[in-house]
Amino acid sequence: MTYRAPIGIFDSGIGGLSIASKVRALLPGEDIVYVADSGHAPYGDRSDQYILERSFAVTDFLISRNVKAVVVACNTATTTSIAALRARYAVPFIGVEPGIKPAVLNSRSGVVGVLATAKTLVTDSFTALANAVAANVRIEIMPCPELVLQIEALKLDHHEAAGLVKKYLQPLLEQGADTIVLGCTHYAHLAHVIAGVAGPNVSIVSTETAVANEVRRRLEREGLVTNKVQAGFDEFWSNGSLEHFQRQLDRLWGRPVTVGQF
Ligand code: DGL
Repeated sequence: MTYRAPIGIFDSGIGGLSIASKVRALLPGEDIVYVADSGHAPYGDRSDQYILERSFAVTDFLISRNVKAVVVACNTATTTSIAALRARYAVPFIGVEPGIKPAVLNSRSGVVGVLATAKTLVTDSFTALANAVAANVRIEIMPCPELVLQIEALKLDHHEAAGLVKKYLQPLLEQGADTIVLGCTHYAHLAHVIAGVAGPNVSIVSTETAVANEVRRRLEREGLVTNKVQAGFDEFWSNGSLEHFQRQLDRLWGRPVTVGQF
C-alpha cells in the first residue's frame, strides 16, 4: 500500500461529510474518495446483516479505488460492522462512536443525553460504551428516526428543522441533561439548530474533529502520510440520485466538486 494512495471515507449518505471536511482541513495534501451509500440510506433502521453487507460492498468499491485506509464515517456502520471489516481487509479502519466519554467529563448535572439512530443505540458496542461510564452519571438515549431523512433532504435551517429537533431533544432536557451527544454523523449538519433549541446552558458534543485527529495519528503510525505538497483531490461517489448528491455537496462541501455513480 502506497502512502500516496487516497483515504476512503463512507457513510449511508451525507453524514460523513462532517468528518470528511475535518479530514480535508487537517490533511490538505491527502486525496479523499468519499462514498455515499445513498441508495441504501438510512442505515439506522436496518438489520445488522444488511448494514454489514453494505459495509462490505462499499469497502470493496473503495479498495478498487486503491485507498490506503478507510474511515467509517457512520456511527451505525461502525458500531455494527467495524470488527468484521477489520477482520476481512488489510487496510486500517478508523470508525466513529458517540462521544460519551467527553460528554460525561463535561456534564455537571450528571445526566447526558444521546441522540443517535435506533440501530446504534441497541448495539453491543454502544451498550459497552454507556456501561463504562461513572456510576453517578446517567445516560439517557433518544433514537431519532426522522432526523436523517430531514438532513438528507437538506432541510437544515432553523425554521425547517427546529420542530423535529425539539421533539427529540425536549424529553432529554426534561430528564435534566446538560450535555447532548450527537451520536450520528448526520446530526452535525443540524448542530446549530440543536444548540439553538437546547439553549445556552446545554453543551453539544460531537466527535468529527477527534476522528480526523485519529485518522492523522493512524496514518502517521502506519507510515502512510502523503508527502505531496499540492492540494489533494476530492472524489465523490453515490448510488442514489446524482443530481441530489450534487446539490447536497454544493451546499455542504464548500467548493466545487464533481460526482460519480458507483
Ligand atoms: N450517519 C450515520 C450515523 O452516523 C447513519 C445514519 C443512517 O443512515 O441512519 O449513524
